Amino acid sequence: MISIVIANLKMNLTPSETKDYLMTLLPRFDGKVDLTLCLPYTSLAVGKFLCEGKKAVRLGSQNINDEEEGRSTGEISGRMLKDAGVDYTIVGHSERRKRFKEDGKCINRKIKSALKNGLGIILCVGESLAERNTLKTFVSLKEQIEEALKGLYENELERIIIAYEPIWAIGSGKTPTAKEISQAVKEIRRIIKDDFSQSASEKINVVYGGSIDSKNIKQFTNCKNLNGFLIGGASIDPNNLLKIISLI
Ligand code: PGA
Repeated sequence: MISIVIANLKMNLTPSETKDYLMTLLPRFDGKVDLTLCLPYTSLAVGKFLCEGKKAVRLGSQNINDEEEGRSTGEISGRMLKDAGVDYTIVGHSERRKRFKEDGKCINRKIKSALKNGLGIILCVGESLAERNTLKTFVSLKEQIEEALKGLYENELERIIIAYEPIWAIGSGKTPTAKEISQAVKEIRRIIKDDFSQSASEKINVVYGGSIDSKNIKQFTNCKNLNGFLIGGASIDPNNLLKIISLI
């Protein structure tokens, strides 16, 4: 059942634009899904101010540093995010894996730091087009999930949402079919079952992300075992995001 929507605003909206965005979005959001708004760091303060106490709305960040404090100019730690009102942080987005060379070990450290600071985690995993074309999608998913979750206790999975995001679908206007998404979600749950337990695999939340918009969302709302969506480009306009939510 679909109950989660994550909006990844990426590097869009200044703090004052975020204020306008939230003033449009929040009064019209009916709380029918759990909505996590992953804002740029500079918009977190206005986000906290306007979202606090709003039913079914959570504040998210798009990244977290893997260390607690110290000589990391320009970085933001889990402790800072928690104090800024953040509930969830995205970890392992393919844009960061690629552009900032974040590997599995780094993603694992980030997840541990988020857990230590009481944050929830949106862990992004997904195959490249080359992997898909050579039938390595499931191998890639297994490798990314196992690296990311190494050393975690089963009860910590309650704080993790896995976002299946095929790299080739992000921002491209292309999506897998509903059947392909269902197969990937099934595989993700199988990996969790093998590494943790049957009950963990049933309980973990899995969402899909990559070129979701108001025109295609209906195709995916009945995807088997899927708990929600991560929406990038189409979430930048609040009216568009509301429209997508209304179609769920
Ligand atoms: P998109 O981005 O919806 O623009 O494809 C998804 C994402 O943030 O990963």
